[in-house]
Amino acid sequence: MDNRNQTTLIKEIKKWKKKRGALIIAHNYQIPGIQDVADFVGDSLELSQKAAQAPEKIIVFCGVHFMAESAAIFSPDKTVLIPDSNAGCSLAASIDAEELRKWKRRYPKALVVSYVNTTAEVKAESDYCCTSTNAIQVVNFIPKDREIIFTPDLFLGDYVARMTGRKIYVYPGECHVHARVRPKDIFAKLGKYPGAEFLIHPECGCVSECMHYVAVGEIPEKTTHIFSTGGMMNYAKNSKSKQFVIATETGILHRLKKENPAKEFIPLREDMVCEYMKMITPEKLLNSLINLEYEVKVPRDIAEKARIPIERMLEISKKE
Ligand code: 13P
Ligand code: SF4
Repeated sequence: MDNRNQTTLIKEIKKWKKKRGALIIAHNYQIPGIQDVADFVGDSLELSQKAAQAPEKIIVFCGVHFMAESAAIFSPDKTVLIPDSNAGCSLAASIDAEELRKWKRRYPKALVVSYVNTTAEVKAESDYCCTSTNAIQVVNFIPKDREIIFTPDLFLGDYVARMTGRKIYVYPGECHVHARVRPKDIFAKLGKYPGAEFLIHPECGCVSECMHYVAVGEIPEKTTHIFSTGGMMNYAKNSKSKQFVIATETGILHRLKKENPAKEFIPLREDMVCEYMKMITPEKLLNSLINLEYEVKVPRDIAEKARIPIERMLEISKKE
């Protein structure tokens, strides 16, 4: 699209946003054209909090479906729209409520901690929710004598089990974007950029191995940090370093560069691209505002049950 058309599209989005009294929120992995027009860009926890606190009655959620569902769960009196209802998530799709019920029957004494990348039905079967920002904090909050089922992310679950030393039954789900990261990718990039800080998302396939290499000194401990996308944003802003290798979906590079123009950000792998996140385009966002499409609704009984683990998570994360 040429610049004139782009400018007209942005003007139209702003006009319709005002007309609808809507709030546009966008995940850190969204394409630049969406991030730049959004009222707020953030990680999954920040977005669920923002949607819950917003005075606006219409929330346009530029992200993936489970995130918009979380906003709908918290705002039953608001209209939550997603510009493309096919924007799913391979990680959320890796477990459904029936599968979780099977795990609960297998480990009847365990409490269930589910990562926010799950459907509302799975959350409704869970005791606690967590994001990559607060997973350790949530697990540490659970009494030490309780066993835990962690769903659905294998790598985050293994990482949390290591960090907390807790007995955790980890469900073997994964995100197809982060699962492809291997230690050889890290060694290759850090070899090329030896002075860079290394920021890695806990969903990455090699995160437990990465901790092992940190422990034996093959990956430098001082400059390696495991963060949610929001954690990466904060760290990059506050760090004195000038160069960072980023191991997560490449959409975050836009915001990192925009907010830190004097610093250099290098993707660990250029192919870490989530096609679901990229389904949201400015054209679809405009359609969403004009036609109030596509409403994300969660059945009331499911929403009431799913709200409990999310509320517990928000309560726990307020404590720090
Ligand atoms: P954050 O919670 O770090 O924003 O991550 C969400 C996500 O989908 C990661 O792939
Ligand atoms: Fe889901 Fe992975 Fe995409 Fe995140 S990057 S939304 S976990 S498929």
